[in-house]
This record gives sequence, C-alpha cells and structure tokens, in this order.
Amino acid sequence: MSNIPQHVSIIMDGNGRWAQARGKERIFGHFEGAESVRACLEAAVEDGVKYLSLYAFSEENWARPEAEVNGLMELLMKYMRQELTNMMSNHVRFVVLGHRERLSEKVNALIDEVMAATAANGGTTLVVFLSYSGKWDILQAMKKAARECSPEQFQAMEIKDFDPYLVTAGIPDPDLLIRTSGELRISNYMLWQTAYTEFYFTDTLWPDFRKPEFREALAEYARRDRRYGKVK
Ligand code: FPP
Repeated sequence: MSNIPQHVSIIMDGNGRWAQARGKERIFGHFEGAESVRACLEAAVEDGVKYLSLYAFSEENWARPEAEVNGLMELLMKYMRQELTNMMSNHVRFVVLGHRERLSEKVNALIDEVMAATAANGGTTLVVFLSYSGKWDILQAMKKAARECSPEQFQAMEIKDFDPYLVTAGIPDPDLLIRTSGELRISNYMLWQTAYTEFYFTDTLWPDFRKPEFREALAEYARRDRRYGKVK
C-alpha cells in the first residue's frame, strides 16, 4: 500500500453498546475491544505504521461507575502482562501518556516496567493515552513552559516551541484519526496535535474493528489530498 500514515490514532468507541446489544455487561465489550487493539497493532506493525496511538481512558472516564473503572484498569494491566513478549518479538515500543498521578501505584509500576523493557525497540511505537484529555495537556504544557522559561523566553515563544511541553513531545502529530461507533466528535482528545489531522469516522463499533477495517481506513487516507491550508 502506498502513502502509509506515519501516525494513526484511534478513539476506540462503542464497547459498551457492543456488549449491551448482546445482553452482556459493558466490561465484556472492553474485553473484546482489547482483541481489536491486538489486531490493529498487528496490522500497524505489518504495514509499517510508525506510531499507533489509542485513547484508552480519558480524564472524564474517571466519572464512570467504580466497577467499570476498576475493570478497565485490570484489563489494561492484563494486556500489558500478556503482550510484553509479543511486543518484544515485534520490536514494539510501548508508551503511556496522560495524567499519570491519578493512576494507582500498581498500574504505574507495571507501566514503568513495560515502558522500560520496550524503550529500545525500534519498530512501531504503541502509545496508550490513559487519564488523558487535550485541555489538560495544553494546560500542563503551559505551566511547564512558565516554570522552565524566563519571562522573555515565554513571551517570545512560537507555536513550534510549545510542542516539546506537551506530553506528546517527540511524537509526530497524528496523520489520521479514526473514531469508531458513529460518534462525530473529538471528545477532548489531542486538541493541539490534530490541527491538520485527517479524520475518519466509521459506524463500526470498536470490538468489530479489526485488520480489514483498519486497512480500509488506511486506504481511505491514501485517497485524501492534504494541503495544510495551502493551494497545490
Ligand atoms: C469507549 O467505549 C471505550 C473505552 C472508554 C475504553 C477503551 C478501552 C479498551 C478497548 C480496553 C483495552 C485497551 C488497551 C489499550 C489494551 P464506551 O464504553 O464509551 O462505549 P459506548 O459508547 O458504547 O458506551
């Protein structure tokens, strides 16, 4: 396939509806959603996508019922434990970004362990956004810049100078953002970083979004004409 995006990001939505349509608890949808994560990562590795990022848990998701929040955290830990060997053999680097102070010590310790183990891998980077929101990211970046810059440097700051303060520092902006389940919004995701991202919305629920659906999104991306506000 030609014109492969360097960075594909996904708002994985529709797990709850997928489960409810089958008369099951919402958490079953999240479990099945983890299988879609495996499938899409495999496709990203095979197709040479350098960055695959996933919106796994937003700052707003903390307001969900405690049982669902705990279930999601358990699922994430299970995924990290189970997939480490696979990530190593596929040269995948694993990174978690977000407001990590809100995560439990147990979750943070496992994240640190998996990030350290995969840090030198040179293949696809899998970025999992956990306890993340776009507005929070911009605010924490602004505070960090204010701490680290002199007042003169702060005033002289240009747009490109702000990027290193965001949690996504060093990661290219997403070329393609996929959102599943028919919702047409960005839900406080990477607000700064998606300024020129191509959006792809599909009615498919996340647990049903597997390799063929991922590749259909890449094919659609390949047909887009990116002009970045310029005339070609
Ligand atoms: C949105 O669906 C999905 C989430 C809030 C959680 C996504 C998490 C996973 C797929 C777990 C596995 C992730 C990794 C990285 C292993 P929803 O619950 O809002 O669905 P609904 O809109 O149908 O209610």
